[in-house]
Amino acid sequence: MLSHILLLAVWPLLGALAISPNNTGISRSWSEAQQLASEFSARLTLTEKAFLATGWILGPCDGNIAPIPRLNFSGMCLHDGPAGIRVADLATLFPAGVTTGATWDRDLMYARGLAMGEEFREKGSHVILGPVAGPLGRHPLGGRNWEGFAVDPYLSGIAMEETIRGHQDAGVQACAKHYIGNEQETERSSVITNGIETAAISANIDDRTLHELYLWPFANSVKAGTASVMCSYNRLNQTYACAHDRTLNEILKGELGFQGYVMSDWFATHSGVDSVNGGLDMTMPGPLSQGEAQTLNLSAIPFHEIPSWFGTNLTTAVNNGSVSEARLDDMVLRIMTPYYLLGQDQDFPSVDPSNAWLYYVSYGLAQLNPAIPVARDVRADHGALVREIAAAGTVLLKNEQSILPIRNVTNIVVFGNDAPDTSDGLYFLGPITDPSRPLGAKYGTLAVGGGSGAGRTSDLVSPLRAIRERGYRDGFRTQYITNNDLLAGNNLTSIFPLPDVCLVFLKTFSTEGWDRLSLENDWNSTLAVENVAALCSNRTVVVTHSSGVNTLPWDDKVAAIVAAHYPGEQAGNSIVDVLWGDVNPSGHLPYTIPKNESDYDFPIVNITGPDALNSDAWQEDFTEGLFIDYRHFDAHNITPLYSFGHGLSYTTFDISSDAQVSWIAQNLSALPTPATTSTPGGNSELWGGVLNITTTISNTGSVAGAAVPQLYVSLPTRQDGGAPSGTPRSVLRGFEKVKLEAGQSIPVTFSLMRRDISFWSVEEQEWRVPQGDLQLDLGFSFGDIRASVTTQI
Ligand code: NOJ
Repeated sequence: MLSHILLLAVWPLLGALAISPNNTGISRSWSEAQQLASEFSARLTLTEKAFLATGWILGPCDGNIAPIPRLNFSGMCLHDGPAGIRVADLATLFPAGVTTGATWDRDLMYARGLAMGEEFREKGSHVILGPVAGPLGRHPLGGRNWEGFAVDPYLSGIAMEETIRGHQDAGVQACAKHYIGNEQETERSSVITNGIETAAISANIDDRTLHELYLWPFANSVKAGTASVMCSYNRLNQTYACAHDRTLNEILKGELGFQGYVMSDWFATHSGVDSVNGGLDMTMPGPLSQGEAQTLNLSAIPFHEIPSWFGTNLTTAVNNGSVSEARLDDMVLRIMTPYYLLGQDQDFPSVDPSNAWLYYVSYGLAQLNPAIPVARDVRADHGALVREIAAAGTVLLKNEQSILPIRNVTNIVVFGNDAPDTSDGLYFLGPITDPSRPLGAKYGTLAVGGGSGAGRTSDLVSPLRAIRERGYRDGFRTQYITNNDLLAGNNLTSIFPLPDVCLVFLKTFSTEGWDRLSLENDWNSTLAVENVAALCSNRTVVVTHSSGVNTLPWDDKVAAIVAAHYPGEQAGNSIVDVLWGDVNPSGHLPYTIPKNESDYDFPIVNITGPDALNSDAWQEDFTEGLFIDYRHFDAHNITPLYSFGHGLSYTTFDISSDAQVSWIAQNLSALPTPATTSTPGGNSELWGGVLNITTTISNTGSVAGAAVPQLYVSLPTRQDGGAPSGTPRSVLRGFEKVKLEAGQSIPVTFSLMRRDISFWSVEEQEWRVPQGDLQLDLGFSFGDIRASVTTQI
């Protein structure tokens, strides 16, 4: 247990409470920043260089790089996570990645990234440990899928790009994570049992699948200039991802031209020399031992005395030649260039002093104390943005007899344990700290999942609270039963009179460290819905707050279903906006909803019994190649319940059938011209526009709304020169969010880049454009194609 005395030992180094200055708006080029970084590096001792690459202490931020006062360098603060500052007071809990992905709205993705970046900066955090593109979502039960945006690499890639630009425009470094293959939580990292270490699971992914699926959104991240990339816990093709020469050196830094630094996930480093030479630039969380810290007159907390693989081990490795000094210099340059690029050397706010305490308190390592300073309030008006994004990421799955939006009601009943205020407080880290509760808290709305992607809320608006407030305003009464045990037991006798509409709020908890056990919503949800639907025939509306894929076995028994994902702190307000029609729903599924759990065939690898201690046994073979989610359903002719990309509105839309194709590139070569310089994102020709397709989108209903037309591309496969076997029939390669007044029509153009119509040729180690007929399908979901056109490549 840490004492306050230990905390105070760290305290003076954190700097005094500062008034947060505005972003200095510094504008430096990469080469100017690199020049400053190399001047800084030239003044460092070998030990200082090694410590810059090694986490220092645990807390006050999730990751900390030690200060070097003689050079006026105050260190670096790295904070979780992808939905807002995880451990802080008076910060905003934003909608989760999956919710943001479900908006299909580039502007909102950017706005969220920017607002989040502003908060991190004002709290004194140099690095945001996010956004997330891995897991991508191979397993629908994967515990962390919701932290990322979508199971489709194209949608995920756009969301990564917009988010990273937003973060870094606010002056904070982004960290695209987890690279790569961290698709399940079970055995995600090595486990020590009775002193014997069993290795983490090995994700075994072939080169083509890696490039076209799991690497794709990371390529967008590098293109967007992400300062850092976090390597993941798992092994990849038998080698730990944080020591993986092929994926770190050859692909990330070589092929993709990544100029920033690779940081390890927490305790994901399993070697020193091999990892450094394999491409790892920073190990987290370190931490430096007390002895190491003292060599630079630093305090350290003796909380974790497992020696880090870096620190003085790194100086030894350089001194004995197993790591070259040039390699260490490159690490320093990679770490410091983004710092200068974003102007973090000038007027950067100090770490909010309240943070240190909250960090330790949240882990049960310190007590709350009246001396804890009041937190800096960095929320600004971000609550309004959270509300807007959450509503925009809410997907109307079905709406029979237009039961929604709710109109002219006098009496509503709210059912379900997801509806009320949370019983367990405003911060729930989840099974990482409390494995006895794999379903999270029993009572209370679920605004976000668990683990490092969670977040504290300073205020959380529950659906029940927001609906009652709406009722006071609109003159309807609100009854409720929030105990799912009563609902499952069909004990609904307290309800009188019978309502005009029954709203059932369900939740699906999902968390880092655990994979989900079932695709159904939690807490006896099926019985709960069936019993309510029997009472409230034809007028039951189900709302889910879920991490993503669910089965909905009661689908045909209810009038409407709304997937509201993890909405963040304005949960109640955003769902009321949609249910009452103040906001016309425009969210679309960033994954597929199956009819049956067995329709998905991607079981989590779980080994029990004696073999669980055998490292060789933990193998996760990605034999399905490119066929995950909708590509899997399509290839196996499985009809989903709701297709990837599906989402209804209170109005209707159409796409004209006469789409126009115009080639930008004439005589497109099959391979791009080899790149002569290394640019972030890789060969710039891959990102160049080659083809435009223009169509007209119309609002054919009677209210304003936003459509999400989607472009799916089928590469030529059957002809000579076509894409090889293993190519999905059709994949997403474009989307737009189009706002339309009732009756309005507007032209929309989709632009395809060379990468969009290429496949990864393993033999040539290059993106190749296949020859033959290219089919372009336009629709409102993968299963709702309204217009098709074929053009010759
Ligand atoms: C482990 C998680 O995998 C990672 O996402 C997070 O940033 C670190 N812990 C720090 O909390």
